[in-house]
Amino acid sequence: MSLIKELENKIKNVFIDLGYEIDNISLINSSREDLGMYQINDAMKLSKIYHENPVEIANKVKEKLDKLNEFTNINIAGPGFINITLSNEKLKEYLNSINFDINNLIDKKTSKNIVIDYGGANIAKELHVGHLRSANIGEALKRLAKTLGDNVISDAHLGDYGLQVGTVIFEIRNRYPNLICFKDDYNGEDFEFNITNEELSNIYPTGSKKIKENEEYHEIAKKITLDMQKGHPGYNKLWEKVSSVSLNEIKKIYNVLNTEFDLYEGERDSIPYIKEVLNIGKEKNILYLSDGATVMDIKKDTDTKEMPPIILVKNDGAYLYGTTDLATIYGRVKRFNPNEIWYVIDNRQSLHIEQVERAARKLNIINNDVIINFIGFGTMNGKDGKPFKTREGNAMSLENLIDIVNNETYNRLNPSITNEEEKEKISKMLAIAAIKYADFLPFRATDYIFDPVKFADLEGKTGPYLLYTVVRIKSLLKKANELNIEYNKINEITDIEKDLCKKIIDISKILISSYNMKSLNEIAEYLYELASLYNKFYNENKIITEENIKKRETWLTLSNIILNELLYLLDILAIKCPDKM
Ligand code: ARG
Repeated sequence: MSLIKELENKIKNVFIDLGYEIDNISLINSSREDLGMYQINDAMKLSKIYHENPVEIANKVKEKLDKLNEFTNINIAGPGFINITLSNEKLKEYLNSINFDINNLIDKKTSKNIVIDYGGANIAKELHVGHLRSANIGEALKRLAKTLGDNVISDAHLGDYGLQVGTVIFEIRNRYPNLICFKDDYNGEDFEFNITNEELSNIYPTGSKKIKENEEYHEIAKKITLDMQKGHPGYNKLWEKVSSVSLNEIKKIYNVLNTEFDLYEGERDSIPYIKEVLNIGKEKNILYLSDGATVMDIKKDTDTKEMPPIILVKNDGAYLYGTTDLATIYGRVKRFNPNEIWYVIDNRQSLHIEQVERAARKLNIINNDVIINFIGFGTMNGKDGKPFKTREGNAMSLENLIDIVNNETYNRLNPSITNEEEKEKISKMLAIAAIKYADFLPFRATDYIFDPVKFADLEGKTGPYLLYTVVRIKSLLKKANELNIEYNKINEITDIEKDLCKKIIDISKILISSYNMKSLNEIAEYLYELASLYNKFYNENKIITEENIKKRETWLTLSNIILNELLYLLDILAIKCPDKM
């Protein structure tokens, strides 16, 4: 249990002993540190219920708390704020009890079943910066939820069912017209088709350009997409082959981003459920035809914004993005019975998910108590404030973006590292840390500016700064080991260590607050604060050469706890650390 929770319980009991009924009290980080570490504001709340002067309530509480040895310097301020400071003794005892295990510092919540949908790469298309944010934020939220005790299933929900299928197959047919899958009498037999990823990455852009410039080609691509959806054996076989080549490549990129899914399912995997979902709509009599398309109204009387009907089947019989998302919900409910489904997607798709959610509720394919959570994120912009592009004005591929940052981190490596292979490995690790950390720093829904020089800096609020701190502590502890210096406990906490110790125990609140906000910015901010406090402490004290052995032990123990905590949080953010840099 976190120390804060333990103390909150203790203080709550004091209130209860005094005859006040209260479910929980909060120890809040003080806004006036000169008055105390924490403040308790609950006396004001209770005064309204019990019609009693809040200062009197506060005084009664103070009298009891004064007798406990957990606190010092309890004082009442203003209309009844209780300011309170943790005793050094209690802090020491607590930190010694956790056994260097950060799990002991945090409160787990009750566990929920969560399906988290993020990543969203599209088969046979290049990943771009939007996919980067989804992977970063989604992976970290998944890890955070697991850390706090949820049971999480992650699904990449690959894009593999829309017009890009027709576009890719159209272009493959231009290049390989003799493939047997294109023959009228094709009977589903297997065939050789070993397309390289290199060629594949060129197929979609070429096909896409052609269908944009030529309406006839556009119609062909649409027809192929429709035929594929209706089960055309040749197109489906070919698409399976394309998907497997492409998925391999997609997994490589996710791997670079330390991102892994339980399921690499796609829109296509929802096909078995589409018919069922449409049948439910028919039975309930809530579908109707509009210009030949099958649609469903999802407007509510209370709506203040435009809420167009959701289109489930186009006039040519094709299914759309909303249809597969709806059917996917149906499948997820059936298979995993989730309490919540989380979507980590670009803000610009919020209407889409809202339509899908409303449709799902109207069709009654999810229980009322299942929460659909749209976790939207903003765009990564260039210096011009517009979505980040290449110099030629095209969407920047994820790989290019990583390369740009990698160039920056490579140039900042310590010159003592000379092995080229090692340099590249470390530089890549720093680049990923730089990108991810910068991605987490603002609240997720805000846009931010891509600035590789700033992101890669070894000082300031950056990923490399955090890794630098980790490397520094690792080498300090390595030196201690080489000198056979043992450290197992904190012997005394004085003013030198107090701020640092206080910061260490803040972790639980930070994790819970980040979880509630579904954003990583508080963790990112906290990591920076923890690292800078440590670096200040490190610079002001000579740890290894400290002559007072008890002090030295305390400092090494603290360094080790901080190292573990930094690594624990960086792991939640899916950021890996080198041993040197
Ligand atoms: N493939 C989509 C895109 O690239 C993102 C998928 C988001 N997830 C979802 N369930 N719709 O925009």
